[in-house]
Amino acid sequence: MSVAKKEYKRVTVKSLVDMKALGEKISMLTAYDYTMAKIVDSAGIDVILVGDSASNVMAGHETTLPITLDQMIYHASSVVRAIERALVVVDLPFGSYQSDPKEALRSSIRIMKESGGHAVKLEGGKEVKDSIKRILAAGIPVMGHLGLTPQSIYKFGTYTVRAKEEEEAEKLKEDAKMLEKIGCFAVVLEKVPAKLAKEVADSISIPVIGIGAGNGVDGQVLVVHDMIGMTHEFNPRFLRRYLDLYADMTQAFKQYNDDVKSGDFPNEKEQY
Ligand code: KIV
Repeated sequence: MSVAKKEYKRVTVKSLVDMKALGEKISMLTAYDYTMAKIVDSAGIDVILVGDSASNVMAGHETTLPITLDQMIYHASSVVRAIERALVVVDLPFGSYQSDPKEALRSSIRIMKESGGHAVKLEGGKEVKDSIKRILAAGIPVMGHLGLTPQSIYKFGTYTVRAKEEEEAEKLKEDAKMLEKIGCFAVVLEKVPAKLAKEVADSISIPVIGIGAGNGVDGQVLVVHDMIGMTHEFNPRFLRRYLDLYADMTQAFKQYNDDVKSGDFPNEKEQY
């Protein structure tokens, strides 16, 4: 059963703001390659995030810090070639926007020109305000990302829930309002208390997309490899697994191994 209230032939940043106004929840998943993006797009997911989580799930790094701008552009251009409907948002990787607004703009322009993505996402609040303003001034849509910002993992020291204390919660609320005011089209809120996330979503007119931020926000995002169970060592409370592909794929590979070794594959019908 479809739960969409309005058909969007192509999802744009404006569609997302309209969806919030209409009370329609926004669905977002990551993808990093052509084949996965094609499936995600054809399932009707509104936004595909080419997340820097590619650093973890595609390249096997412990954190998101090592992935480069060139690598993000490679992943994003593969995704863009696959999609017909979804909005493609591309993460600015660590080190490509923090030092100064000019560099942030140069990195964003490279993403837009070389990958064909539709918007960029970056982590942080008032610390990166000038960079965001510069990117927006060039006509590039920006999605913010507050709460647990994995590019700052060495500052936090842990992937635990953020903004449980008053001071951090207040800053987060101010940052969300600032992101709305300067012209971001949406904000990701990662791993914060559900009550706070709802308060933020109710206080701004741009969509708040949550991951581990409860159900009072305007949409949800998950890392696709986690939600289809290709990864199996990462088990946060917020993760709903829709498949157990790790088990299914392991079983398939074992069966293939057995079939090759026993001479069962290929059979007569599987040859020329
Ligand atoms: O990189 C990523 O996948 C993300 C999501 C977890 C929001 O930023």
